[in-house]
Amino acid sequence: MIRAKSPGSIFLYLFVNKITPEMIRSWKGAHRKISALTAYDFPTAKLLDECGIEVILVGDSLGMTVLGYPDTTHVQLEEVIYHTRAVARGVSSALIVADLPIHSYDSRELAVQSAGSLISAGANAVKLEGGQACSEQIRAITGAGIPFLGHVGMLPQRVREEGGYHIKGRRPEERDFLLEEAKTIEKNGGFGVVLELIVPSVAAEITRSIGIPTIGIGSGLECDGQILVFHDLVGYFPWFTPKHARPESDLAAHVRTAVRAYVDRTRRGM
Ligand code: KIV
Repeated sequence: MIRAKSPGSIFLYLFVNKITPEMIRSWKGAHRKISALTAYDFPTAKLLDECGIEVILVGDSLGMTVLGYPDTTHVQLEEVIYHTRAVARGVSSALIVADLPIHSYDSRELAVQSAGSLISAGANAVKLEGGQACSEQIRAITGAGIPFLGHVGMLPQRVREEGGYHIKGRRPEERDFLLEEAKTIEKNGGFGVVLELIVPSVAAEITRSIGIPTIGIGSGLECDGQILVFHDLVGYFPWFTPKHARPESDLAAHVRTAVRAYVDRTRRGM
């Protein structure tokens, strides 16, 4: 609660229920499911916040959804900073997590510096892709007091090496590896972990095996929460819809209808 004094000396009580990483973490035990979506601009962030979304991710998926790159490997730190600033202007309650893009955490020092610049831009926490291979960077980030969300499973920043977006955890050694990845995030101070494109039974096992919440994308319903790319949820990227998205609307069709109507009325001088 923030107590603010108005110009007329009347005290106003503004209730700002800001969601914190500690709250997210505590919801694991409380069996409260976490809803998370991406946002990259002010109006979207404000709408999501008004709807009660608990976590807003300024994901490096912005590379495809708003910048037109073929994948996330082209995204620069400056671009995530720019979009984080816009999102932060629209949010009062949701926890804002910003993605560390590829090569912005190649060393411990760089990871802390890049994470710090996202926090200065208005993020409340940062996320990077990977567990054991990045444990030094994760430790450095959490050691610097910056809240950290992990991301394991399919790692979009590796899409070029892997030749596509493939489901993880089908083989027993992959299941063991993913379990270790999630445990590494927990051990190094992460307040939660995104599980991307993991076989549902393995995602459920990870969820039962760690003490921090799992937030799944394409990883079944037994995670502690779910995250989606906003454009996939509302049908605003009609050129590609991932199988797991289950769109709730067809925004692209609405835009086309409105724009065609506008072109038509303009040509007719109306
Ligand atoms: O960048 C992003 O949108 C993400 C989600 C897919 C989890 O990392």
